[in-house]
Amino acid sequence: MSKIDINVSAVYNTVSADQIKALAPEAEKALETVDKGTGAGNDFLGWVNLPSATPAALLEDIEAAAAVLRGSCEYVVCIGIGGSYLGAKAVIEALSDSFAAYKSADGNPKVIFAGQNIGEDYMFELMNLLADKKFGIIVISKSGTTTEPAIAFRLLKDQLEKKEGKEKASKLIVAITDAKRGALRQLATEEGYKTFVIDDNVGGRFSVLSPVGLLPIAVAGYDIQALMAGAAEMEKITAVPGENNPAQLYAQTRNALYRAGKKTEILANYCPKLHYFAEWWKQLYGESEGKDGKGIFPASVDLTTDLHSMGQWIQDGERTIFETVLSLEAQDHEVLVPMDNANLDGLNFLAGKRIDQVNKMAELGTRIAHVDGGVPNMVITLPALREKYLGQLIYFFEKACGISGYMLGVNPFNQPGVEAYKKNMFALLEKPGYEKETAAMKARLSGEA
Ligand code: PA5
Repeated sequence: MSKIDINVSAVYNTVSADQIKALAPEAEKALETVDKGTGAGNDFLGWVNLPSATPAALLEDIEAAAAVLRGSCEYVVCIGIGGSYLGAKAVIEALSDSFAAYKSADGNPKVIFAGQNIGEDYMFELMNLLADKKFGIIVISKSGTTTEPAIAFRLLKDQLEKKEGKEKASKLIVAITDAKRGALRQLATEEGYKTFVIDDNVGGRFSVLSPVGLLPIAVAGYDIQALMAGAAEMEKITAVPGENNPAQLYAQTRNALYRAGKKTEILANYCPKLHYFAEWWKQLYGESEGKDGKGIFPASVDLTTDLHSMGQWIQDGERTIFETVLSLEAQDHEVLVPMDNANLDGLNFLAGKRIDQVNKMAELGTRIAHVDGGVPNMVITLPALREKYLGQLIYFFEKACGISGYMLGVNPFNQPGVEAYKKNMFALLEKPGYEKETAAMKARLSGEA
């Protein structure tokens, strides 16, 4: 298998092949709307051609910046949140040794993430860890004003400058932000940081194949050229309408299921390294589709782990869910179940079998059980955890998201809902300019309003 593959036959107990096919004209129109840029949010379609249009010189510049950080840092802290965080985290986790964090240096700096929460202990413990380490910073914020990364950057910039001196620290900080606007751009210019641009027409959650994702991935030691080559293959495949377009098929199928009352999609993986891939996917679909009172709720489970927690609900709870299984074809290592003379656990029938064989049967058995229990499922097969296939998968999901959002009747490229919490938080923190909101909030909390 040389590319990712999608199989939707296990949804036919809920929506038939004909019902899915009937949505093809709608899906093809949505695909055209994405590709021709004729729909709502069309000023945010820069991601569509990132794989094929990113100049080789930019990839080389990213690799060169990564080499500088790799050559001088034991730790590189990548500061960002949402779309400025999840893509890189997903790819690095998928490609890394599961225990890399506990292993001593292997020539690759350890990439740590910050600014994706406002945990005080998290920041304290991170600064504590970095106190005697050589570290650098990649700070990513399109707007340059997002509270969480801005706080983390204030702290870590200060720590780095105190440790290395201002001049040397400025060589260990790379900023990825808007070309002209925003506080981070201004600071980067003043301090002389190396910078990369997040194009105006690439939204955060669609930015993993831009410097936002590529620089941290390259710093971690992974092949961004292969990632982009895989994505470029998928860009080509998903530009052609028809039944061989996997993104179209996925969008059609999930919309058919949604219209049949399946309101929640669970992305299930059977490989712990894909946990953050699901987190990235949840942001992509949640922020793109959850608006105007509509949208499939994107959830995720790590199996078989969560069969021992969420398994009961999935098998037997309210029948409003469907499942999309991320199935990994090949593992990198072989471990066999050993023979045990006492056989107290009764598992000698597995002796000599690969652990992955057990996992695969758990996966197949679960899929069948879920279908029998009224949970239709789709399967997306990934040949192996390699840059090329992850590039394919990323682009596949992005393209399908654009198609699916238009089929749903929303603008998949805005996120008006994320402002509500910020307004309340700033009112509560008494940010200058929020005096009216602060007064209203105080009155509300004291029960006056
Ligand atoms: O997808 C999005 O647009 C958001 O998740 C943003 O990426 C997130 O809010 C961070 O924004 P910024 O990069 O401006 O700091």
